[in-house]
Amino acid sequence: MQTLILTIFVLTLIGSTTAVLPFAVAKAEADENVIYLLDQSTILGGSADPEITSQCFTYYMPLLNQISLNYSVKYELCVTAASQAATKLTASAAQNRATLVNETTTICNAFASCNSESNNLNFLNCYATAASGDISAIFNISTSASNAAVSLKSGLQQISDTEQICQNKAQQTYSTQTTKTYKELYACFANGLPTASTSGIAVNT
Ligand SMILES: *[C@@H]1O[C@H](CO)[C@@H](O)[C@H](O)[C@H]1NC(C)=O
Ligand SMILES: *[C@@H]1O[C@H](CO)[C@@H](O)[C@H](O)[C@H]1NC(C)=O
Ligand SMILES: *[C@@H]1O[C@H](CO)[C@@H](O)[C@H](O)[C@H]1NC(C)=O
Repeated sequence: MQTLILTIFVLTLIGSTTAVLPFAVAKAEADENVIYLLDQSTILGGSADPEITSQCFTYYMPLLNQISLNYSVKYELCVTAASQAATKLTASAAQNRATLVNETTTICNAFASCNSESNNLNFLNCYATAASGDISAIFNISTSASNAAVSLKSGLQQISDTEQICQNKAQQTYSTQTTKTYKELYACFANGLPTASTSGIAVNT
């Protein structure tokens, strides 16, 4: 239980100074997963030796910080990728819009030009011609507009889904790595640093 409280305390400290919403929310969620995962299996068999405790912290804290930092970097990459994709899609939608407005203007101009006919019969014939010529164009505009709307809507949804999957993946990696590292930290409290990782640290007693 003490270990769990320590974990909550340390998790709250790591990255809390730099985290901004909505990453802070995602990080808090990931930390809850860590607490949950640790709660299943962690038993504190701690050595009270402050020397060992200090060695353990010195070794594992930078690792935990790096994991947290990597998570925030990956999270931001997900956000940036989504934002770039949305910008591209929006530009393409704006292009579709300009084309549609252009096509409509052309149709309107065909009618407007009829109004310069002073002869009423010529005017009516002009309108009749313009109308029959424009039926298929108007049908085209309707089809194009609704197709563009569908692909904009589904495109934005897809971007958002991809972003969510990307963030979930980063969060899962963070939770898994953090949990693993905490377990190693607790094992270190009990047994000292594993020999493989003490190569750079003086352990002669
Ligand atoms: C953090 O990311 C870097 C670059 O991708 C990688 O080399 C490093 O191993 C990662 N660190 C941890 C603790 O996962
Ligand atoms: C609109 O039409 C004009 C003239 O027909 C053309 O020069 C222009 O490139 C068109 N713009 C778009 C966005 O289609
Ligand atoms: C209707 O759309 C098709 C395919 O985009 C195009 O080839 C055709 O020229 C358009 N017709 C009119 C009248 O604008």
